[in-house]
Amino acid sequence: MNFKCAKCGKITSVSTRAPKCECGGLWKLEFQPPKFTLEDVDKDEWSLFRYRKFIALEDDSWKDISLGEGMTPIVRFNEDVLLKMDYFMPTLSFKDRGAAVLVAHCKAIGIDSVVQDSSGNAGNAVAAYCGKAGIKCEIFVPEGTSPKKIDMIKAHGSKVNVVPGNRDHCADVCRAKVEDEGVYYANHVYNPFFYEGTKTYIYEAYEQLHRIPENIVVPVGNGTLFLGVMHALEHLLESGCIDHMPQIIALQSEKCDPLMKGYEEGLDKAAEVSPEPTLAEGIAIGKPMRDQEILEYVRKYGIRFIHAPEEKILEARAELASKGIYCEHTTAANYAAYKEYCHVYGKTPDCLITMCGAGLKSDH
Ligand SMILES: Cc1ncc(COP(=O)(O)O)c(C=O)c1O
Ligand SMILES: [Zn+2]
Repeated sequence: MNFKCAKCGKITSVSTRAPKCECGGLWKLEFQPPKFTLEDVDKDEWSLFRYRKFIALEDDSWKDISLGEGMTPIVRFNEDVLLKMDYFMPTLSFKDRGAAVLVAHCKAIGIDSVVQDSSGNAGNAVAAYCGKAGIKCEIFVPEGTSPKKIDMIKAHGSKVNVVPGNRDHCADVCRAKVEDEGVYYANHVYNPFFYEGTKTYIYEAYEQLHRIPENIVVPVGNGTLFLGVMHALEHLLESGCIDHMPQIIALQSEKCDPLMKGYEEGLDKAAEVSPEPTLAEGIAIGKPMRDQEILEYVRKYGIRFIHAPEEKILEARAELASKGIYCEHTTAANYAAYKEYCHVYGKTPDCLITMCGAGLKSDH
């Protein structure tokens, strides 16, 4: 299996330790899964690896690494909204989907030590699967990251470096270590294997509902769920499982919205923004590295951006909690953005929203 550089087109084996191409371009995975059919889902496997026929995996390493991730229920919240409960995961966020597949890849190519930067949840997930895999792991998080997330990362046996400054600076510090020391970058943004895992969000929804809802709300910081969702929806389209793309509703924080601004300004990349503090720490990404890829999808499929209004996040969280759904602030932003979307575009029925991070993580 190979990576192809998104910028210069250079082909490299996926066993490379290089985080990106020499030209600076990010890798894309050259992998065409077979046509999607429910018959090819391994119903005896109770984890997201039941979809392994459609996931790029080199060997059976996943068997020693899986923690039973995926398989999250879809719950009806009201007549218009379905919630996919992705915080029902081993590390309490959707990042387990990507981390399980990424760490299985690391194991398959013989990596014994990794670094990663994160707003908390991705680092938490990579730390847990590295713990299971017996891979040494070091995570960089920005100052202000929820203490609960940091405690969990440490509990999984990883080293944590809390970096002063914002999320983008934290990534720069971690990437400098990758450059200087040549250590493997198990990063959810750079490494295409992560998206192989987040694809399963859609495969699962399709298996559960036997269809795909008309509207899908997806948070976009770096876009790791977004890109997995788009790859899987294109796969379902090509396979004839669905006959049109649903309306994707991509949300960004109103305090940090480089992709939404880039789109509105007619750019093919993220706009320059100065991120301001937001409760939605998980989507506070000022410089999303796959910006061009994301905006290509936005234009190709008429995806709509919407803001999560900052002052509505706590209200949304309280409303969800009062009905038994206890999610983290970043996840409450998904519901706040949905309400904003209804305000702008009118009633929006048959909408799937991800509940992708657990409430206890942001109680601080
Ligand atoms: C709970 C939660 N929601 C959404 C996101 C955004 O994911 P991405 O940056 O991959 O778009 C994150 C990322 O950490 C998160 O933790
Ligand atoms: Zn290149």
